[in-house]
Amino acid sequence: MLKKCLFPVAGYGTRFLPATKAMPKEMLPVVNKPLVQYGVEEALAAGLHEICFVTGRGKRAIHDHFDISYELEHQIAGSDKESYLVGIRDIIQQGRFASTRQLEVKGLGHAILTGELLVGNEPFGVILADDLCLNDGPGVMSQLMEVYRRTGSTVVAIEEVPEQEVSKFGIVVGEEEEPGLYRVTDMVEKPQAGQAPSNLAIIGRYILSPSIFELLRHTPPGKNGEIQLTDALLMLARTSRVLAYKFEGRRFDCGSVGGFVEATNFVYQHVYQRGCDA
Ligand code: UTP
Repeated sequence: MLKKCLFPVAGYGTRFLPATKAMPKEMLPVVNKPLVQYGVEEALAAGLHEICFVTGRGKRAIHDHFDISYELEHQIAGSDKESYLVGIRDIIQQGRFASTRQLEVKGLGHAILTGELLVGNEPFGVILADDLCLNDGPGVMSQLMEVYRRTGSTVVAIEEVPEQEVSKFGIVVGEEEEPGLYRVTDMVEKPQAGQAPSNLAIIGRYILSPSIFELLRHTPPGKNGEIQLTDALLMLARTSRVLAYKFEGRRFDCGSVGGFVEATNFVYQHVYQRGCDA
């Protein structure tokens, strides 16, 4: 079964400037946890314990977050404040962490290809931490794992989006094989509103076969001059089965200020306060 989850975290986060000038976007806190921690928790809950980061310059805080801070630990040992560290300590114990650097920010496809060094020749999960996904039941990666267990196919998470938003996403067209599960027949990266073949948008959760690496190696730069994962996935869909799964739960686009504020309010009201009352 799968063990590895790749986190491409090398992007500049320009939509969040100036906050992201010296701090990684993935370290922005939604209430009291950085975005990337939510993603890592989701991966661990799905049984993916080998966490692989594709990082870049200025991303050191991510490495430090998943490491022991001896001075801090020593300072608060035995005090009430120690309880605040329990969650992250558990994560550090459960996971194994590795990273490599994307030398140039040339798109999500390029970031994933950079991760080949860590992933090797086995299927793997991918989480884009700026898509924060929350669900009362199993997380989105666990849901994708369930589909993968049944089918053994590459699978991407999708959601229906309003027509005016299609231009922000990779859009899939597919034949519905069972309720909420589509076999992908076509994909378009960020189509203009009114020109999209459907409103089924790919969100930042994937289970990929290692054959994607060879396809990415031969994928020319696409939209915005970047190597697009969507282009390689479409090539894969032409030769093998690629599934798109309408996940259960809520997704917040925390790469945008509006989505981030929405997520913060939601987590504060429905997760954080509930935890404090418990
Ligand atoms: P985004 O496009 O949402 O992130 O990529 P970004 O480029 O950092 O954001 P803006 O548009 O400038 O505000 C989705 C994920 O893919 C990673 C990003 O770090 C983010 O987690 N990514 C993107 C890479 O790792 N490398 C890339 O070349 C591009």
